[in-house]
Amino acid sequence: MAILYTVLDDHELASRHVAGLMVSTINRHPSCTLGLATGSTPMSVYENLCRRYQAGELSFQGITTFNLDEYVALPEGHPQSYLAYMRENFFDHVDLDESKTHLPAAHQINENVSATVISDRYENEIENLGGIDWQLLGIGVNGHIGFNEPGATIDSPTRLVDLAASTIEANSRFFETVGQVPKQAITMGIGTILKARKIVLLATGAAKAEAVASAINGPVTSDNPASFLQTHSDVLFVLDREAASAIA
Ligand code: PGA
Repeated sequence: MAILYTVLDDHELASRHVAGLMVSTINRHPSCTLGLATGSTPMSVYENLCRRYQAGELSFQGITTFNLDEYVALPEGHPQSYLAYMRENFFDHVDLDESKTHLPAAHQINENVSATVISDRYENEIENLGGIDWQLLGIGVNGHIGFNEPGATIDSPTRLVDLAASTIEANSRFFETVGQVPKQAITMGIGTILKARKIVLLATGAAKAEAVASAINGPVTSDNPASFLQTHSDVLFVLDREAASAIA
């Protein structure tokens, strides 16, 4: 299936477009389940959503959320954890019911509770709540989606993964030193992501151009995990001009 894409002038317009798609989905399906992403790219999507919530345009009360991933070996709510990110950028500013928000409970891994138990529990929770209706994705410079780095297989489930060196390097801007960046995470798998009914990937900036172009036009391969999205029937890439610049 060819991946559909739309190109907006810049990061702000692309983010606004994605937020608009989310708002209309939520207003049409007020009890739907959203898959959410972290990183710098979606920050302005969340800003837009918070603004539109404050303007009374929508309510998140009936919405269930599942985040793509969480770092391993950080205490719950650590400032660099994705739970803290979600609270800071989104959860604390809207009327989401906190009991309906989910991130992989990576902090619960210990000598008695394995990463596999935590991962399987997350996968089952998603399934038991009816699956993900609308999944937001970013993309890494190496084509990762969630923390499915190159090498991840199309049917991979939620699981413990090692982060690629390029990801650790890219994410070090959120930490004081590269050494502080966690080396592992629990991530939804490619298989988990592909079960979402609709997928919207937001990519902006020239650094993402190659990964975006090969995800859209290149072969379906583990070398670029985002290329697996070609096998899904309802995917939209929302790009700014720079991120779209390498598409043939
Ligand atoms: P970024 O990360 O938005 O911080 O570039 C995207 C991703 O790695 O999925």
